[in-house]
Amino acid sequence: VGITIRDAVAADVPAITDIQNALLDTTTVEWRTEHHTPAEKSAWLRAHQHAGHAVLVAVDDTTGDPGEVVGWAAYHEFRPTDRWPGYRFTVENTVHVREGHGGAGIGRSLMLELIERARAAGRHRLIAAVTAENEASVRFHERLGFVEVGRLGQVGSKLGRWLDVVFLQLDLDDAATPPPDDVS
Ligand SMILES: CC(C)(COP(=O)(O)OP(=O)(O)OC[C@H]1O[C@@H](n2cnc3c(N)ncnc32)[C@H](O)[C@@H]1OP(=O)(O)O)[C@@H](O)C(=O)NCCC(=O)NCCS
Repeated sequence: VGITIRDAVAADVPAITDIQNALLDTTTVEWRTEHHTPAEKSAWLRAHQHAGHAVLVAVDDTTGDPGEVVGWAAYHEFRPTDRWPGYRFTVENTVHVREGHGGAGIGRSLMLELIERARAAGRHRLIAAVTAENEASVRFHERLGFVEVGRLGQVGSKLGRWLDVVFLQLDLDDAATPPPDDVS
């Protein structure tokens, strides 16, 4: 209640950046320590939207006008389709909820809209690549219907330890065959 999900705009970049950076120093959610900069995230937002990839924010309308951005979600290519166009019907999601706002359904609302956007864009499979020790996120994705399809051991490292990744998959449609290959 009181949460609006909408496409991100340039003015949301500082909040998107803050929400993402809050996790970098102390958690293994994202396998980097260097903080994102608003300039970098602005370029990212432009590139994503130009490519037709959804970038969504959740806004708490009860905090004023404009309301506070309390989460964001996006999808991007699962693997580089300029090199391997055969991956073009598969995308990978990212979702972050602002600290102190978890457990209120914000993540789920963002993902439900993101899933619809991916479907509307003709995508076939959505992948979540989650740090195995982030059990909350594994559970969160499973509650949305994602199914664990693989675990890779010690393919990452951060904070002095090896990290495993869990791949979860959501089937966006059940098309028996893909659209024909195009020549572009
Ligand atoms: C993971 C995250 C996105 C969940 O968002 P959220 O807004 O707290 O989740 P919601 O309130 O929408 O919960 C949706 C479902 O996930 C479950 N869930 C959420 N957090 C959970 C937790 N810590 N442990 C177990 N289940 C959890 C909820 O129980 C709920 O299930 P239900 O519908 O059966 O009640 C959020 O905690 C977050 O941003 N974490 C830090 C960043 C991160 O890990 N991102 C994912 C990287 S892969």
